[in-house]
Amino acid sequence: MKKRLALSTIAATLLAASSLGFAADDTFKIGLILPMTGQQASTGKQIAAAAQLYMAQNGSTVAGKKIELIIKDDAATPDVTKRLAQELVVNDKVNVLGGFGVTPAAFAAAPIATQSKTPMVVMAAATSIITQASPYIVRTSFTLPQAAVAMGDWAAKNGIKKAVTLVSDYGPGLDAEKYFKERLTFNGGQVVEALRVPLRSPDFAPFLQKVRDIKPDALFVFVPSGAGAAVMKQFLERGMDKAGIKLIGTGDVTDDDQLNDMGDGAIGVVTSHHYSAAHPSAANKKFVEAFEKANKGMRPNFMAVAGYDGMRVIYEALKATKGNGGGDALLAAMKGQIFESPRGPMFIDAQTRDVVQNIYIRRVQKVNGQLYNVEFDVLKDVKDPGKAK
Ligand code: DHB
Repeated sequence: MKKRLALSTIAATLLAASSLGFAADDTFKIGLILPMTGQQASTGKQIAAAAQLYMAQNGSTVAGKKIELIIKDDAATPDVTKRLAQELVVNDKVNVLGGFGVTPAAFAAAPIATQSKTPMVVMAAATSIITQASPYIVRTSFTLPQAAVAMGDWAAKNGIKKAVTLVSDYGPGLDAEKYFKERLTFNGGQVVEALRVPLRSPDFAPFLQKVRDIKPDALFVFVPSGAGAAVMKQFLERGMDKAGIKLIGTGDVTDDDQLNDMGDGAIGVVTSHHYSAAHPSAANKKFVEAFEKANKGMRPNFMAVAGYDGMRVIYEALKATKGNGGGDALLAAMKGQIFESPRGPMFIDAQTRDVVQNIYIRRVQKVNGQLYNVEFDVLKDVKDPGKAK
């Protein structure tokens, strides 16, 4: 009797689930988990705006499916990310998960993507190892080793013998520190001190004081998107530039979201990154104009471009599977995609599911009265060096 009851309950549940499935059959749901509030809120704002722009430009019906974009705020808090990922998969029955503003958030959601076989498009988090946390992860942002290696090479070739590194004390910071040091040392330079600042509410002052006392040729910085302006301000206030210490870093520190408000003291700062709003291509010009127009003049940053390209990867996978694909088919259609992004050429490596892209060396300059990261050198088709070993 008990068994019969249990069986009929299961049957009823399955029936309910399949009828739900029918009702939802002509919709395709993309669930973005983003930090819309808190310390990383600019990441969420940029990616959400870019995803909405992509939809406005490319329509919301693809392969006969109505695209539904669901945006959830995790405030970059991993337990919230995990709960939201679960709810999106189980309750909303999303076809694809996306977003993930910081590394711990991406790690928190990865097991849910694996268990539910849901493709998970990482549009921000940039620690090398993230793509190995689930076979369902595809990344459209970048990796810190990609950017840091380029800076280690550039610094050594440009008279920087003695450097201090200053990074946020978590995954991407540790990647940046390690790969910058490796390349600088390989090229005959030296990292004389490696400083790590807390991710939450960092006070840069005591660290910068220490750097001023050491007086290296350069200070190499990684801080996440949104924290660069505080570093720049305190660096300049201490007169470190005037003391002959060059500020260099990955492009996160001269983030396009904040750069124009950093003041002329930022002019001359050299960084390495995969995207600049000043990237001189027709595709980028079009992207920047449309983004600024749709967002009251807000300039797109590297987070926005990864959100935009992430939506493209999802749209193209949906087209390629003619709207009939489950998680595995969609994932297969994401692997190996190659296209021109506003950042330049971009490729999703089918083996690693990570992004292969150009890394540009840029210098902050004033262009038409505004501060931009102006690209002056390029390393082409850079794979994540974190996976090469
Ligand atoms: C990460 C976050 C950022 O804001 C950034 O610029 C780079 C990396 C991260 O948490 O992975």
